[in-house]
Amino acid sequence: MPLEPMLPSLEPRIAQLLARHTSASAHIDWSYHEFLPLEAYHAPSDRRPLSEVTYIAVETALLTEVNLPWYTAVLYEGLKNSMEPIQEFVRVWTSEEDQHSMLLETYLLLTDNGDHAERGKRRRAVVAGGFSHDLETPFEAMVYTAVQELATQAFYLCTANVCEGEDPILARALRRIAKDETRHYAFYRDVVKAHLEVDPEYVVPLAKAITQFRMPGRVIPDFKERSALLASEHVFGPEQFYQDVVEVVCSYWDVDNLAPALPEAQEALVQLQRYRAVLRRLAKHRSASAAVGSRSGGG
Ligand SMILES: [Fe+2]
Ligand SMILES: [Fe+2]
Repeated sequence: MPLEPMLPSLEPRIAQLLARHTSASAHIDWSYHEFLPLEAYHAPSDRRPLSEVTYIAVETALLTEVNLPWYTAVLYEGLKNSMEPIQEFVRVWTSEEDQHSMLLETYLLLTDNGDHAERGKRRRAVVAGGFSHDLETPFEAMVYTAVQELATQAFYLCTANVCEGEDPILARALRRIAKDETRHYAFYRDVVKAHLEVDPEYVVPLAKAITQFRMPGRVIPDFKERSALLASEHVFGPEQFYQDVVEVVCSYWDVDNLAPALPEAQEALVQLQRYRAVLRRLAKHRSASAAVGSRSGGG
């Protein structure tokens, strides 16, 4: 029997996940102005501009966030026949995500970092480019979004670490955004987990969404160059993606102990484990060359 797009019997459980999220959100309600260096409005600041690498990391995060209208459109369209608590979550999620690009853009403007006109052009190019995907079912969308939220959280935390010495106010703002991404991740992650617990055959769409995952910022016109730079500077690359994202979700979803009965699902599990092994080797190789580089005084 083919898998259902999602399991309607899980609606009460998903409603509890939504309630958990909304009560946590009410508890830590925040506004983006609280994380901005507003004194820059009033007095010339002696703040130094961000380094090139930090600026690119922050701008990449911003250009990823500005495409929110399309992420919402894609989720709205893909989930419009799904359970109500999932649709409600997408609305709440959109309202929370909406602060992220505002905070980053306002920070860059207030602190006069980067070329504002160029950044504006890039923002418009990203949004005009839309967002396409090859997610075929609502469950795949849940897996993709869980991985994406965790990857975004990891990206923010890595960027916060590199900019701590340049501007602790910015590092604090990035960590604040990362907390939102963590809570968003928790919702999608637990929707996926609930399905796998009832029916491990969901490993088929799970494996597809994980192995085909690409960062949402891929629609930024020079995304490849940006990612290569941030990886070579060890801000965020395959090591972080493997360690902080793929292994975290696979461990939470207990992939090593899934025991599907159907041959197609068993094959999907094998493919997923192969993907993890390839990524593990790549991450190990990159960490080893980074260690050699730092011992010899290089990058
Ligand atoms: Fe975000
Ligand atoms: Fe997010």
